[in-house]
Amino acid sequence: MVRWIVAAAATLITVGAAGFASHGPGDPSGEPGSALRQDTTKHEEAVAVIEHELGELRGRIAGREKQPATEVFKNIQLFKTMEAGRLPGVMGSWSNVLGVTCKHCHVMDQWEKEDRPEKQIARDMAQMVNEINSHLLKNIKNLDSTEPRIGCWTCHRGKLIPEFFPPREKKN
Ligand code: HEC
Ligand code: HEC
Repeated sequence: MVRWIVAAAATLITVGAAGFASHGPGDPSGEPGSALRQDTTKHEEAVAVIEHELGELRGRIAGREKQPATEVFKNIQLFKTMEAGRLPGVMGSWSNVLGVTCKHCHVMDQWEKEDRPEKQIARDMAQMVNEINSHLLKNIKNLDSTEPRIGCWTCHRGKLIPEFFPPREKKN
């Protein structure tokens, strides 16, 4: 049951690499009016914050990277079979694919807490991605790929709210 999470995490890390490619978090992320607060930190600043926080996190868990995440961290509900050393990469990847910093889902330095609803949304999104990859896509016949799959980037592309319509062509 939980084996997918490791695979999903690998996918997330891959898709996260191109996270900030074109849309920074300074971009108002599509439509306004999301019930959830948006993080408006500027792009370069955001990259610096993420790098800094991940550096600190890696420092804190140094020497324990191979231990299960459940032993090293305090409140692991999703990544039950993951090695602790992989968690920082996933956190950086999620920040990048959504175009936010850590504080969109966490109160900084209170990582284990559940104060922000976005943290649970991210878990639910990961479950949805798994459901799509392991069942829904698999059931579509005659696709070219033998293992078709999606990741966070497929929808989010550096924004909190995925676009529904294709962007309008600019009129000159
Ligand atoms: C999109 C939401 C999201 C973003 C952005 C995010 N996180 Fe997380 N983070 C989570 C979720 C969800 C968990 C819990 C995973 C689980 O249940 O296995 C988590 C868990 C953690 C934990 C483990 C806490 C514990 O002791 O249980 C740390 C540390 C952490 N995040 C650090 C960071 C850092 C540093 C950043 C920024 C680089 C970041 N996170 C960005 C959603 C996010
Ligand atoms: C199939 C498309 C799709 C995929 C894949 C997807 N999401 Fe989402 N996500 C959405 C939609 C749609 C919303 C709702 C946006 C809105 O509020 O209208 C959303 C919203 C969110 C939000 C709340 C945004 C906010 O306003 O704060 C978070 C956090 C999030 N997704 C994280 C993730 C993560 C992490 C992944 C990968 C594990 C992921 N999503 C994969 C479609 C997707």
